Order: sequence, then C-alpha cells, then structure tokens
Amino acid sequence: MDSDRALVAEREIGRINAFFPILRLLGNRWAVSRPWEGMTIGLNLHLTTLTAALVRELMLGGGHFVLSAANPGTTDAGAVAVLRNAGVDVYTGRELEDRHLQVLSHRPNIVADVGFDLLGTLFERRADLLDKVIAGVEITRSGVHRLRALEAPLPIPIVNINDGRLKDAIENRHGVGEGVWQAVSRLTGMHLAGRRVVVVGYGAVGRGIAEYARAANMSVVVVETDPIRRLFAHHDGYPTAELIPACRKAGIIVTATGRSKVVTLEAIRAAPSGVVVFNAGHGRDEIDFAALREAVERVDHIADQVVRYRLANKKFFTLLGGGNPLNIVMNSGSPEPVLLHFAVLGLTLEWIARFGDLKPGECEVPAEIEHRAAAMALEALNPA
Ligand SMILES: NC(=O)c1ccc[n+]([C@@H]2O[C@H](COP(=O)([O-])OP(=O)(O)OC[C@H]3O[C@@H](n4cnc5c(N)ncnc54)[C@H](O)[C@@H]3O)[C@@H](O)[C@H]2O)c1
Repeated sequence: MDSDRALVAEREIGRINAFFPILRLLGNRWAVSRPWEGMTIGLNLHLTTLTAALVRELMLGGGHFVLSAANPGTTDAGAVAVLRNAGVDVYTGRELEDRHLQVLSHRPNIVADVGFDLLGTLFERRADLLDKVIAGVEITRSGVHRLRALEAPLPIPIVNINDGRLKDAIENRHGVGEGVWQAVSRLTGMHLAGRRVVVVGYGAVGRGIAEYARAANMSVVVVETDPIRRLFAHHDGYPTAELIPACRKAGIIVTATGRSKVVTLEAIRAAPSGVVVFNAGHGRDEIDFAALREAVERVDHIADQVVRYRLANKKFFTLLGGGNPLNIVMNSGSPEPVLLHFAVLGLTLEWIARFGDLKPGECEVPAEIEHRAAAMALEALNPA
C-alpha cells in the first residue's frame, strides 16, 4: 500500500523536476559544496510530494534531516513513504504523541518551521537545547504572528521568509489563488463561473483567491476587518461587506485570515442552503467547526474531503478539506510558486550553515538570497 503511494509520489516528483527544475539546480550545487555536512536540521513542514522533492535535494548537501508534519490533515502518505525510503526520520503525529518533541530529540542545529509549532516547542519545552541551535527559519504569516506575540525576546536568530519580496507576491497570492479553485473544481465538479464567493481576509492569500475567482467569472465579495486592506479590496474592484450580510447570498465562503473561529455558526445559518465552505489559511479552525458540530443533525460523506452537514433548520452546508488549507490537502495548483519559496528556504539554510553568526531576534531574509532564487527560477522556466 505504502509502496503504491510512494510510486505515485515518485512520479509526481519526476514531473515537478521535468518542468521546473529549480530544486535540481540547487541539489546539484549542494552535492558539490555539502553545506550541511555534520549538521542536523529539523524541519516542520506540510508533508507533501513537493516537500519530499525538496528534502531529497537538501540531503545531497550532507547533514541529517528530521521532519515533523505541520498538520496531519495535509500529510501525504506517499511523500512520507518516499522520505522514509530515503532514510529521513519523519514524525507524522499519527504514531507518536508529540511529533515536534520527537524532532527536537535529534538535537537539531537549525530549525525551520511553518506556523511556529516546532520553534514554539523548542522554546517552551526544550530550552536546554537552545545553545546547540544556530538559527531558526519561519516560513508562514501565521508563524510570524506567533513569534512576534511572544513576551520574552527571541533567544535565537529567526529568519522570516514570509516577509521577503517573493513569498507574499508569488506563492501566497498566485500559488494559493490558483490552487484553491482547481481543488474546488476537482472536488465538486462545479463550474465556477457565476458563483458568488465571499473571501474572508484580504492579505496576499485572500487577494489571490479573489483575483483567480474573478478570472473564472465568479462574483466576489470581500470581508476584511482592517480598514486599509478593505480599502485595497475596494480599489481592486470588489464590493466589501460585513460577514453576515455578505454570507446571505454566498454560494461559497472561503477563509484566508490565519485567525481562528472567523466563520461562525451565525454566518453559516445566514447563508443560503447548500453553501460550500473551505479554508485557505494555515490552521484548521478558521471555520468555527466546534460550534457548527453542536448545531448539526446529520452528516453525509459525499466523497473524499467533501462532507455535507445538515443543520436543525434543514439547511445544509458542505465543508471541503475538513477545514484544512484546501490547496495543500489536495496538492493542487502549479507546484512552481511553492518550489520557488522552497528554493529561498534552501538558500537560507545554506546561508545560515555557512555564515551563521546572526544576532538573536527576527531577521529579514537577505535580499541577495531572493535575487538568487528569482534568477534560478527564471533559469528553471527556460531550461536550455
Ligand atoms: N494555503 C496555503 O498554501 C497558504 C500559503 C501561504 C499562507 N497561508 C496562510 O494563509 C493565511 C493568510 O495569509 P496572508 O499572508 O494573506 O495573511 P495576512 O495576515 O497578511 O492577511 C490576513 C488578513 O485577514 C484579515 N482578518 C483577520 N481576521 C479577520 C476576520 N475575523 N474577518 C475578516 N478579515 C480578517 C486581516 O486583517 C488580514 O488583512 C495565514 O494563515 C497564512 O499562514 C496559506
């Protein structure tokens, strides 16, 4: 079973490297320069085929790589099998109680994270290991929010990749925007044109979702609590509204805020029967599912990742992807935007390993790393 899944993941990795070989270009260099020789690197990432493709190239640079699943709901069994076959220690959380502590038990020298769970566990529960850690890397907006909310100063340097010039502009906006609508089409078979969609949150992710919805001839309303972002949405040409009035005519509601319990039971009750709901933000609780579950009187599993819930008032709604980020659950959209930020991640790990004399605190990803990643992406787009 696992070998079948690994085969599917291997084919996917082959396709990725054939059409956008940016990781191959990097892997070839790391195989020569061996930047991580003798080091242990702990990574907390979504365990997708793209991650497997990244880690296999990173391994060419020496070092011992240990991974935990950022979210069991986005873990691809084939990718895990590929990684384990390559000799990587992978903790998915299904077989072990605390996957982050398991990674830390390998005493990593560099820790890279999506969502600040691995770094948070390091600070709170394994502070005894801090003197071994040269630096950390945080990749997501949600993780950056969490690290900035800490009361104590950061005890190690943490490079923030999310706020560089590339990730917001390309992966968060175009990658997620394209990916979620592909996933909706695949899961539901719905023709998207003419559907009314409420996009909740208008950061880079919400903006991309709205743009790609408009390109598919959907009609978009934006809900945004920050007046500046709401004004951006207005000038980008979208009507804006409060959540409940916006939901009254919604065919689809999508969250992209990085906050919890954003779509409430009241909002779903206000929406027309049959509304489709999904999340594109990092976590799995942007839709207040705990409250919704209390109000549900019937559950129908329509298909994998498609569950229909009937409320006591006979209205129903359909949740896609179990509330997890839908594009990641479905591995949908072009891999190129994710591979680009993986290239930035790889180059950042190399930079830390080589020159790692950074001061504790949040650091910007160096501009030269982003320039190199962008130049390599252009090279990968036009292979000779
Ligand atoms: N699915 C993916 O592949 C993927 C990729 C990148 C980022 N993310 C995640 O997507 C989320 C959004 O990322 P971003 O970079 O756009 O973040 P962001 O913080 O720039 O934007 C989020 C927006 O949501 C708004 N917001 C917060 N609470 C709200 C509420 N209750 N109602 C309406 N609006 C609200 C904020 O004001 C903000 O403008 C984060 O969790 C991020 O980690 C997911």
